[in-house]
Amino acid sequence: MAIRTRAAAALILQKLLLGKGSLGASLDLHREQNDYQLLQEMCFGCCRWFHQLDFLLLQLRSKPFKRKDQDLRSLLILGLYQLKFMRIPDHAAINETVDASDDLNKRWARGLTNAVLRSYQRQRKELEEGLQRADLPKRESHPEWLVSILAQSWPKQFEDILTANNCRPPFTLRVNLSMQSRQQFLDTIDQADIKARAGKLAASAVYIDQPLPVSKIPGFFEGAASVQDEASQLVPELLQLTPGLKVLDACAAPGGKTCHILESEGSLTTCIALDRSPTRLIKIEENLERLQLEACLLCADGNDRDSWWSGEAFDRILLDAPCSASGVIRRHPDIKLLLTPAQLERLILEQERLLETLWTCLKPGGLLLYTTCSIVPQENQAQINRFLGQHNDAKYESITADWGVECESGRQLLPSADSGTDGFFFSLLRKL
Ligand SMILES: C[S@@+](CC[C@H](N)C(=O)[O-])C[C@H]1O[C@@H](n2cnc3c(N)ncnc32)[C@H](O)[C@@H]1O
Repeated sequence: MAIRTRAAAALILQKLLLGKGSLGASLDLHREQNDYQLLQEMCFGCCRWFHQLDFLLLQLRSKPFKRKDQDLRSLLILGLYQLKFMRIPDHAAINETVDASDDLNKRWARGLTNAVLRSYQRQRKELEEGLQRADLPKRESHPEWLVSILAQSWPKQFEDILTANNCRPPFTLRVNLSMQSRQQFLDTIDQADIKARAGKLAASAVYIDQPLPVSKIPGFFEGAASVQDEASQLVPELLQLTPGLKVLDACAAPGGKTCHILESEGSLTTCIALDRSPTRLIKIEENLERLQLEACLLCADGNDRDSWWSGEAFDRILLDAPCSASGVIRRHPDIKLLLTPAQLERLILEQERLLETLWTCLKPGGLLLYTTCSIVPQENQAQINRFLGQHNDAKYESITADWGVECESGRQLLPSADSGTDGFFFSLLRKL
Protein backbone atom coordinates (compact mmCIF):
# COMPACT_ATOMS: atom_id res chain seq x y z
CA MET A 1 0.00 0.00 0.00
CA ALA A 2 1.26 3.49 -0.85
CA ILE A 3 2.34 5.53 2.15
CA ARG A 4 0.42 8.62 3.23
CA THR A 5 1.21 11.93 1.48
CA ARG A 6 2.59 13.45 4.68
CA ALA A 7 4.93 10.54 5.28
CA ALA A 8 6.13 10.76 1.66
CA ALA A 9 6.75 14.49 2.11
CA ALA A 10 8.64 13.89 5.37
CA LEU A 11 10.84 11.28 3.68
CA ILE A 12 11.66 13.67 0.85
CA LEU A 13 12.58 16.38 3.32
CA GLN A 14 14.64 13.90 5.34
CA LYS A 15 16.63 13.02 2.20
CA LEU A 16 17.40 16.69 1.64
CA LEU A 17 18.46 17.14 5.27
CA LEU A 18 20.82 14.21 4.86
CA GLY A 19 22.22 15.82 1.70
CA LYS A 20 20.89 13.16 -0.66
CA GLY A 21 19.50 14.25 -4.03
CA SER A 22 17.42 17.26 -4.96
CA LEU A 23 13.78 18.13 -4.42
CA GLY A 24 13.02 17.98 -8.16
CA ALA A 25 14.50 14.49 -8.54
CA SER A 26 12.73 13.17 -5.43
CA LEU A 27 9.38 14.60 -6.48
CA ASP A 28 9.74 13.18 -9.98
CA LEU A 29 9.39 9.69 -8.51
CA HIS A 30 5.85 10.60 -7.36
CA ARG A 31 4.69 12.47 -10.46
CA GLU A 32 2.04 9.91 -11.42
CA GLN A 33 0.39 9.84 -7.98
CA ASN A 34 -3.05 11.38 -7.46
CA ASP A 35 -1.82 13.38 -4.48
CA TYR A 36 1.15 14.81 -6.41
CA GLN A 37 0.02 18.45 -6.18
CA LEU A 38 -0.47 18.28 -2.43
CA LEU A 39 2.88 16.54 -2.01
CA GLN A 40 4.59 19.17 -4.14
CA GLU A 41 2.98 22.03 -2.21
CA MET A 42 4.05 20.51 1.10
CA CYS A 43 7.63 19.81 0.03
CA PHE A 44 8.16 23.20 -1.61
CA GLY A 45 6.64 24.95 1.40
CA CYS A 46 8.73 23.02 3.93
CA CYS A 47 11.93 23.87 2.04
CA ARG A 48 10.95 27.51 1.55
CA TRP A 49 10.20 27.99 5.24
CA PHE A 50 12.54 25.37 6.69
CA HIS A 51 14.86 27.69 8.63
CA GLN A 52 11.94 29.53 10.17
CA LEU A 53 9.96 26.40 11.03
CA ASP A 54 13.04 24.73 12.46
CA PHE A 55 13.53 27.74 14.72
CA LEU A 56 9.92 27.36 15.94
CA LEU A 57 10.42 23.62 16.41
CA LEU A 58 13.45 24.29 18.56
CA GLN A 59 11.25 26.34 20.93
CA LEU A 60 8.86 23.41 21.20
CA ARG A 61 11.41 20.62 21.52
CA SER A 62 14.90 21.71 22.43
CA LYS A 63 16.39 18.19 22.35
CA PRO A 64 18.36 17.76 19.10
CA PHE A 65 17.23 15.10 16.65
CA LYS A 66 19.63 12.22 16.03
CA ARG A 67 20.63 11.40 12.46
CA LYS A 68 18.25 8.43 12.44
CA ASP A 69 15.37 10.68 13.51
CA GLN A 70 15.64 13.26 10.75
CA ASP A 71 12.43 11.76 9.31
CA LEU A 72 10.63 12.68 12.51
CA ARG A 73 12.13 16.16 12.53
CA SER A 74 10.92 16.49 8.93
CA LEU A 75 7.43 15.33 9.85
CA LEU A 76 7.23 17.90 12.66
CA ILE A 77 8.42 20.64 10.30
CA LEU A 78 5.68 19.53 7.92
CA GLY A 79 3.11 19.62 10.73
CA LEU A 80 4.12 23.19 11.57
CA TYR A 81 4.06 24.17 7.89
CA GLN A 82 0.46 23.01 7.62
CA LEU A 83 -0.61 24.83 10.77
CA LYS A 84 1.14 28.04 9.81
CA PHE A 85 0.85 28.27 6.03
CA MET A 86 -1.81 25.92 4.67
CA ARG A 87 -5.56 26.21 4.64
CA ILE A 88 -6.10 22.84 6.24
CA PRO A 89 -8.18 22.85 9.46
CA ASP A 90 -5.81 22.47 12.44
CA HIS A 91 -7.42 19.27 13.72
CA ALA A 92 -7.11 17.56 10.31
CA ALA A 93 -3.49 18.71 9.88
CA ILE A 94 -2.57 17.39 13.33
CA ASN A 95 -4.42 14.07 13.04
CA GLU A 96 -3.06 13.29 9.58
CA THR A 97 0.48 14.20 10.61
CA VAL A 98 0.27 12.05 13.72
CA ASP A 99 -1.00 9.13 11.60
CA ALA A 100 1.89 9.59 9.17
CA SER A 101 4.36 8.65 11.92
CA ASP A 102 3.05 5.05 11.52
CA ASP A 103 4.26 5.08 7.90
CA LEU A 104 7.69 6.14 9.08
CA ASN A 105 7.67 3.04 11.31
CA LYS A 106 7.70 5.36 14.31
CA ARG A 107 4.47 4.61 16.08
CA TRP A 108 6.23 5.56 19.28
CA ALA A 109 6.40 9.14 17.97
CA ARG A 110 2.61 9.60 17.73
CA GLY A 111 2.42 11.12 21.20
CA LEU A 112 5.40 13.38 20.62
CA THR A 113 4.08 14.59 17.25
CA ASN A 114 0.68 15.29 18.75
CA ALA A 115 2.19 17.12 21.73
CA VAL A 116 4.53 19.32 19.64
CA LEU A 117 1.83 20.36 17.18
CA ARG A 118 -0.75 21.03 19.88
CA SER A 119 1.79 23.10 21.81
CA TYR A 120 2.31 25.23 18.71
CA GLN A 121 -1.46 25.61 18.41
CA ARG A 122 -1.71 26.76 22.06
CA GLN A 123 1.35 29.01 22.11
CA ARG A 124 1.10 30.29 18.54
CA LYS A 125 0.91 33.97 19.51
CA GLU A 126 3.94 33.98 21.83
CA LEU A 127 5.98 31.81 19.46
CA GLU A 128 5.29 34.08 16.51
CA GLU A 129 6.16 37.14 18.59
CA GLY A 130 9.43 35.41 19.54
CA LEU A 131 10.11 34.78 15.86
CA GLN A 132 9.67 38.48 15.11
CA ARG A 133 12.47 39.18 17.61
CA ALA A 134 14.76 36.55 16.08
CA ASP A 135 17.51 37.44 13.63
CA LEU A 136 16.85 38.06 9.94
CA PRO A 137 17.98 34.65 8.59
CA LYS A 138 15.40 32.94 10.86
CA ARG A 139 12.63 35.43 10.11
CA GLU A 140 13.24 35.27 6.36
CA SER A 141 14.08 31.56 6.47
CA HIS A 142 17.53 31.47 4.86
CA PRO A 143 20.87 29.95 5.90
CA GLU A 144 22.94 32.48 7.84
CA TRP A 145 26.05 32.20 5.67
CA LEU A 146 24.09 33.01 2.52
CA VAL A 147 22.36 35.98 4.13
CA SER A 148 25.72 37.36 5.17
CA ILE A 149 27.09 37.08 1.58
CA LEU A 150 23.97 38.74 0.19
CA ALA A 151 23.99 41.49 2.82
CA GLN A 152 27.60 42.29 1.99
CA SER A 153 27.09 42.11 -1.76
CA TRP A 154 23.75 43.89 -2.06
CA PRO A 155 23.42 46.09 1.06
CA LYS A 156 20.54 48.11 -0.38
CA GLN A 157 18.64 45.26 -1.99
CA PHE A 158 19.28 42.18 0.10
CA GLU A 159 16.16 42.36 2.29
CA ASP A 160 14.00 42.56 -0.83
CA ILE A 161 15.95 39.65 -2.29
CA LEU A 162 15.18 37.50 0.76
CA THR A 163 11.49 38.40 0.52
CA ALA A 164 11.48 37.63 -3.20
CA ASN A 165 13.13 34.26 -2.59
CA ASN A 166 10.16 33.30 -0.42
CA CYS A 167 7.56 34.18 -3.06
CA ARG A 168 6.04 31.81 -5.53
CA PRO A 169 7.65 32.33 -8.93
CA PRO A 170 5.62 33.54 -11.91
CA PHE A 171 4.78 31.08 -14.66
CA THR A 172 6.62 32.40 -17.69
CA LEU A 173 6.65 31.19 -21.25
CA ARG A 174 8.94 31.80 -24.19
CA VAL A 175 6.88 32.21 -27.32
CA ASN A 176 8.43 30.58 -30.38
CA LEU A 177 8.73 33.71 -32.49
CA SER A 178 9.80 31.68 -35.53
CA MET A 179 6.24 30.28 -35.57
CA GLN A 180 4.12 33.29 -34.66
CA SER A 181 4.27 36.75 -33.12
CA ARG A 182 3.85 37.18 -29.38
CA GLN A 183 0.56 39.02 -29.98
CA GLN A 184 -0.79 36.12 -32.05
CA PHE A 185 0.11 33.73 -29.25
CA LEU A 186 -1.51 36.00 -26.65
CA ASP A 187 -4.69 36.15 -28.77
CA THR A 188 -4.75 32.35 -29.12
CA ILE A 189 -4.41 31.69 -25.42
CA ASP A 190 -6.92 34.42 -24.62
CA GLN A 191 -9.45 32.47 -26.70
CA ALA A 192 -8.65 29.46 -24.51
CA ASP A 193 -9.46 31.65 -21.49
CA ILE A 194 -5.86 31.77 -20.30
CA LYS A 195 -5.09 35.19 -18.89
CA ALA A 196 -1.57 36.42 -19.58
CA ARG A 197 0.56 39.51 -20.19
CA ALA A 198 3.60 40.27 -22.30
CA GLY A 199 6.99 40.51 -20.57
CA LYS A 200 8.73 43.88 -20.61
CA LEU A 201 12.37 42.84 -21.12
CA ALA A 202 12.42 39.99 -23.62
CA ALA A 203 10.42 40.13 -26.87
CA SER A 204 9.40 36.47 -26.48
CA ALA A 205 8.29 36.47 -22.83
CA VAL A 206 4.71 35.92 -21.67
CA TYR A 207 3.58 35.76 -18.04
CA ILE A 208 0.61 33.47 -17.40
CA ASP A 209 -1.62 34.70 -14.54
CA GLN A 210 -2.43 31.28 -13.10
CA PRO A 211 0.03 28.37 -13.42
CA LEU A 212 -1.44 25.50 -15.44
CA PRO A 213 -0.25 22.18 -16.89
CA VAL A 214 1.60 22.67 -20.17
CA SER A 215 -0.86 20.31 -21.84
CA LYS A 216 -3.47 23.09 -21.47
CA ILE A 217 -1.38 25.60 -23.44
CA PRO A 218 -2.60 25.70 -27.06
CA GLY A 219 0.11 24.46 -29.43
CA PHE A 220 2.57 23.54 -26.69
CA PHE A 221 3.29 20.08 -28.08
CA GLU A 222 3.65 21.54 -31.58
CA GLY A 223 6.35 23.91 -30.32
CA ALA A 224 4.38 27.16 -29.97
CA ALA A 225 5.93 27.96 -26.59
CA SER A 226 8.29 26.69 -23.91
CA VAL A 227 8.51 27.24 -20.17
CA GLN A 228 11.38 29.62 -19.43
CA ASP A 229 11.95 32.57 -17.13
CA GLU A 230 12.14 35.98 -18.79
CA ALA A 231 15.71 36.69 -17.62
CA SER A 232 17.27 33.86 -19.57
CA GLN A 233 15.21 34.80 -22.63
CA LEU A 234 17.55 37.77 -23.05
CA VAL A 235 20.40 35.49 -24.15
CA PRO A 236 19.96 35.24 -27.98
CA GLU A 237 19.72 39.01 -28.41
CA LEU A 238 22.93 39.53 -26.43
CA LEU A 239 24.70 36.92 -28.58
CA GLN A 240 24.10 39.10 -31.68
CA LEU A 241 23.30 36.11 -33.87
CA THR A 242 23.48 36.35 -37.66
CA PRO A 243 23.26 33.72 -40.43
CA GLY A 244 26.30 31.55 -40.99
CA LEU A 245 27.77 31.72 -37.48
CA LYS A 246 29.30 28.77 -35.63
CA VAL A 247 27.80 28.66 -32.16
CA LEU A 248 28.68 26.62 -29.10
CA ASP A 249 26.30 26.30 -26.17
CA ALA A 250 28.81 24.90 -23.71
CA CYS A 251 26.67 23.92 -20.72
CA ALA A 252 23.50 23.33 -22.59
CA ALA A 253 21.21 20.93 -20.75
CA PRO A 254 18.21 20.85 -20.54
CA GLY A 255 18.48 22.99 -23.64
CA GLY A 256 16.26 26.00 -22.96
CA LYS A 257 18.81 28.42 -24.36
CA THR A 258 19.98 26.12 -27.19
CA CYS A 259 16.40 25.96 -28.46
CA HIS A 260 15.91 29.70 -28.08
CA ILE A 261 19.13 30.35 -30.02
CA LEU A 262 17.87 28.12 -32.85
CA GLU A 263 14.42 29.72 -32.81
CA SER A 264 16.04 33.16 -33.04
CA GLU A 265 18.44 32.39 -35.89
CA GLY A 266 17.53 29.55 -38.21
CA SER A 267 20.57 29.85 -40.51
CA LEU A 268 23.51 29.13 -38.25
CA THR A 269 26.26 27.01 -39.83
CA THR A 270 26.77 25.02 -36.63
CA CYS A 271 25.07 24.89 -33.28
CA ILE A 272 26.73 22.54 -30.83
CA ALA A 273 24.98 21.79 -27.56
CA LEU A 274 27.52 20.34 -25.13
CA ASP A 275 26.84 19.00 -21.65
CA ARG A 276 28.61 16.52 -19.47
CA SER A 277 25.44 14.96 -18.07
CA PRO A 278 24.06 12.15 -20.27
CA THR A 279 20.68 12.17 -18.54
CA ARG A 280 20.30 15.92 -18.90
CA LEU A 281 21.35 15.68 -22.54
CA ILE A 282 18.26 13.53 -23.18
CA LYS A 283 16.18 16.53 -22.09
CA ILE A 284 17.83 18.63 -24.81
CA GLU A 285 16.92 15.96 -27.32
CA GLU A 286 13.28 15.98 -26.17
CA ASN A 287 13.09 19.77 -26.33
CA LEU A 288 14.64 19.92 -29.80
CA GLU A 289 12.23 17.27 -31.02
CA ARG A 290 9.15 19.05 -29.68
CA LEU A 291 10.29 22.31 -31.26
CA GLN A 292 11.40 20.60 -34.48
CA LEU A 293 14.89 22.03 -34.23
CA GLU A 294 18.30 20.52 -34.85
CA ALA A 295 21.58 20.86 -33.03
CA CYS A 296 24.70 18.77 -32.73
CA LEU A 297 24.59 17.19 -29.27
CA LEU A 298 27.83 16.28 -27.52
CA CYS A 299 28.21 14.62 -24.16
CA ALA A 300 31.56 15.61 -22.67
CA ASP A 301 33.25 17.61 -19.97
CA GLY A 302 33.81 21.04 -21.49
CA ASN A 303 37.19 21.21 -19.76
CA ASP A 304 38.37 18.06 -21.50
CA ARG A 305 38.72 19.93 -24.79
CA ASP A 306 40.48 17.18 -26.69
CA SER A 307 37.54 14.83 -26.17
CA TRP A 308 34.99 17.00 -27.98
CA TRP A 309 36.55 19.87 -29.95
CA SER A 310 37.41 19.51 -33.62
CA GLY A 311 39.75 22.49 -33.46
CA GLU A 312 37.47 24.74 -35.52
CA ALA A 313 36.95 27.95 -33.55
CA PHE A 314 33.49 29.33 -32.76
CA ASP A 315 32.05 32.76 -33.55
CA ARG A 316 29.85 32.69 -30.49
CA ILE A 317 30.08 30.76 -27.24
CA LEU A 318 27.43 30.71 -24.58
CA LEU A 319 28.79 29.64 -21.21
CA ASP A 320 25.69 29.29 -19.03
CA ALA A 321 27.86 28.10 -16.20
CA PRO A 322 27.04 25.66 -13.41
CA CYS A 323 26.43 27.89 -10.39
CA SER A 324 24.92 28.20 -6.92
CA ALA A 325 21.49 28.94 -8.49
CA SER A 326 21.11 31.59 -5.79
CA GLY A 327 19.06 33.67 -8.24
CA VAL A 328 16.37 31.01 -8.57
CA ILE A 329 15.75 30.08 -4.93
CA ARG A 330 12.05 30.89 -5.32
CA ARG A 331 11.86 28.15 -8.00
CA HIS A 332 14.18 25.73 -6.18
CA PRO A 333 13.76 26.39 -2.45
CA ASP A 334 15.73 23.21 -1.63
CA ILE A 335 18.84 25.28 -2.47
CA LYS A 336 18.44 26.77 1.02
CA LEU A 337 19.01 23.32 2.48
CA LEU A 338 21.50 21.90 0.03
CA LEU A 339 23.96 24.65 -0.87
CA THR A 340 27.06 24.90 1.33
CA PRO A 341 29.98 27.36 1.33
CA ALA A 342 32.28 24.50 0.26
CA GLN A 343 30.06 23.75 -2.75
CA LEU A 344 30.05 27.40 -3.68
CA GLU A 345 33.87 27.40 -3.66
CA ARG A 346 33.92 24.33 -5.91
CA LEU A 347 31.48 25.93 -8.33
CA ILE A 348 33.60 29.08 -8.54
CA LEU A 349 36.64 26.96 -9.47
CA GLU A 350 34.65 25.03 -12.08
CA GLN A 351 33.42 28.28 -13.65
CA GLU A 352 37.00 29.54 -13.76
CA ARG A 353 38.22 26.36 -15.49
CA LEU A 354 35.39 26.40 -18.03
CA LEU A 355 36.03 30.06 -18.87
CA GLU A 356 39.73 29.36 -19.38
CA THR A 357 39.16 26.33 -21.63
CA LEU A 358 36.32 27.71 -23.71
CA TRP A 359 38.14 30.97 -24.37
CA THR A 360 40.68 28.99 -26.39
CA CYS A 361 37.83 27.75 -28.64
CA LEU A 362 36.65 31.27 -29.59
CA LYS A 363 37.64 33.00 -32.85
CA PRO A 364 39.36 36.38 -32.65
CA GLY A 365 36.55 38.91 -33.02
CA GLY A 366 34.08 36.36 -31.58
CA LEU A 367 31.85 36.81 -28.54
CA LEU A 368 31.57 34.75 -25.38
CA LEU A 369 28.48 35.33 -23.30
CA TYR A 370 28.95 34.24 -19.68
CA THR A 371 25.74 33.80 -17.73
CA THR A 372 24.69 32.38 -14.38
CA CYS A 373 21.43 32.18 -12.46
CA SER A 374 23.40 33.36 -9.44
CA ILE A 375 23.41 36.61 -7.51
CA VAL A 376 26.68 35.89 -5.68
CA PRO A 377 29.28 38.32 -7.10
CA GLN A 378 32.15 35.83 -6.65
CA GLU A 379 30.51 33.73 -9.37
CA ASN A 380 29.76 36.73 -11.52
CA GLN A 381 31.53 40.04 -11.72
CA ALA A 382 34.48 38.91 -9.57
CA GLN A 383 34.88 35.86 -11.82
CA ILE A 384 34.89 38.04 -14.93
CA ASN A 385 37.16 40.68 -13.39
CA ARG A 386 39.71 38.00 -12.57
CA PHE A 387 39.47 36.63 -16.10
CA LEU A 388 39.89 40.06 -17.69
CA GLY A 389 42.90 40.71 -15.43
CA GLN A 390 44.61 37.60 -16.80
CA HIS A 391 43.68 37.83 -20.51
CA ASN A 392 44.91 40.72 -22.61
CA ASP A 393 42.95 39.42 -25.57
CA ALA A 394 39.59 39.75 -23.75
CA LYS A 395 37.52 42.91 -23.81
CA TYR A 396 34.35 43.44 -21.84
CA GLU A 397 31.48 44.62 -24.05
CA SER A 398 29.21 46.80 -22.00
CA ILE A 399 25.55 45.73 -22.09
CA THR A 400 23.44 48.81 -22.66
CA ALA A 401 19.99 48.11 -21.29
CA ASP A 402 17.34 49.55 -19.04
CA TRP A 403 17.12 46.40 -16.92
CA GLY A 404 19.16 45.08 -14.04
CA VAL A 405 22.06 46.54 -12.10
CA GLU A 406 25.07 47.60 -14.13
CA CYS A 407 28.23 46.07 -12.61
CA GLU A 408 31.85 46.66 -13.47
CA SER A 409 31.92 43.83 -15.97
CA GLY A 410 28.36 42.65 -16.44
CA ARG A 411 24.68 43.23 -15.78
CA GLN A 412 22.85 41.64 -12.87
CA LEU A 413 19.13 41.02 -12.58
CA LEU A 414 18.05 40.55 -8.97
CA PRO A 415 14.98 38.58 -7.90
CA SER A 416 12.16 40.90 -6.96
CA ALA A 417 8.97 40.25 -5.04
CA ASP A 418 6.74 41.93 -7.65
CA SER A 419 6.85 38.71 -9.70
CA GLY A 420 9.66 39.97 -11.91
CA THR A 421 12.46 37.91 -13.36
CA ASP A 422 14.77 35.42 -11.71
CA GLY A 423 18.18 36.59 -10.53
CA PHE A 424 20.53 36.30 -13.48
CA PHE A 425 23.98 37.59 -14.46
CA PHE A 426 25.24 38.41 -17.95
CA SER A 427 28.71 39.34 -19.13
CA LEU A 428 29.71 39.69 -22.76
CA LEU A 429 33.38 39.29 -23.72
CA ARG A 430 34.93 39.94 -27.11
CA LYS A 431 38.13 38.22 -28.16
CA LEU A 432 40.59 40.73 -29.63
C1 LIG B 1 22.88 26.15 -15.58
S1 LIG B 1 22.79 24.57 -16.25
C2 LIG B 1 22.55 24.94 -17.95
C3 LIG B 1 21.15 25.31 -18.33
C4 LIG B 1 20.98 25.41 -19.84
N1 LIG B 1 21.92 26.31 -20.43
C5 LIG B 1 19.58 25.81 -20.27
O1 LIG B 1 19.35 26.96 -20.62
O2 LIG B 1 18.69 24.95 -20.28
C6 LIG B 1 24.46 24.07 -16.20
C7 LIG B 1 24.77 22.80 -16.98
O3 LIG B 1 26.18 22.67 -17.01
C8 LIG B 1 26.51 21.31 -17.08
N2 LIG B 1 27.94 21.21 -16.71
C9 LIG B 1 28.50 21.42 -15.52
N3 LIG B 1 29.83 21.30 -15.59
C10 LIG B 1 30.11 21.01 -16.89
C11 LIG B 1 31.31 20.74 -17.61
N4 LIG B 1 32.48 20.77 -17.00
N5 LIG B 1 31.23 20.47 -18.92
C12 LIG B 1 30.02 20.42 -19.54
N6 LIG B 1 28.85 20.65 -18.91
C13 LIG B 1 28.90 20.95 -17.62
C14 LIG B 1 25.53 20.67 -16.11
O4 LIG B 1 25.34 19.30 -16.42
C15 LIG B 1 24.27 21.51 -16.37
O5 LIG B 1 23.42 20.87 -17.28
